[in-house]
Amino acid sequence: MSWNDDLEKAFNDQITAEFASAYEYLALAAWLEEHGLPGMAHWMRQQAEEEREHAMKLYQFVLDRDGTVALGSITAPDTRFETPLDVFERGLGNERAITAKINDLYGLVTDTRDFASLPLLDWFVNEQVEEEATMQQIVDDLRLAGGEGHTLLMIDRELATRTEGDEDG
Ligand SMILES: [Fe+2]
Ligand SMILES: [Fe+2]
Repeated sequence: MSWNDDLEKAFNDQITAEFASAYEYLALAAWLEEHGLPGMAHWMRQQAEEEREHAMKLYQFVLDRDGTVALGSITAPDTRFETPLDVFERGLGNERAITAKINDLYGLVTDTRDFASLPLLDWFVNEQVEEEATMQQIVDDLRLAGGEGHTLLMIDRELATRTEGDEDG
């Protein structure tokens, strides 16, 4: 008897969504680097790496539950941006969409009384609060900067210092 089919599908969808986030952030990182903002690009690459880790947490969990991992397709990210603010707003929109998906998954897990999934999903719920707050802070900083070169450079230098596992970078 294998794990619940609906849960297996929902967890697989989340794995794909986390890899899609990583792919999206790599596209954003490339745009930032091409536009002379290596610090922001570095931050976004770290973000992509973190999303890959999220995907792998879920991937391992599906295997641990004796489920089948089935990776889905990922659509090409849109890369038409005018400003770094546009780029980080896209990132914030992506995090909000991921939060909504985690909430749906949490609802399904609760409805099916699959309590063994709750500790992992609680971790994701907390992680999404941090992810949205961090991205929102950068969006706010960029809005305040208003495209002013000196301030953008300061933000770029600050984001250059993000290390692995460091949200605030
Ligand atoms: Fe994630
Ligand atoms: Fe994220």
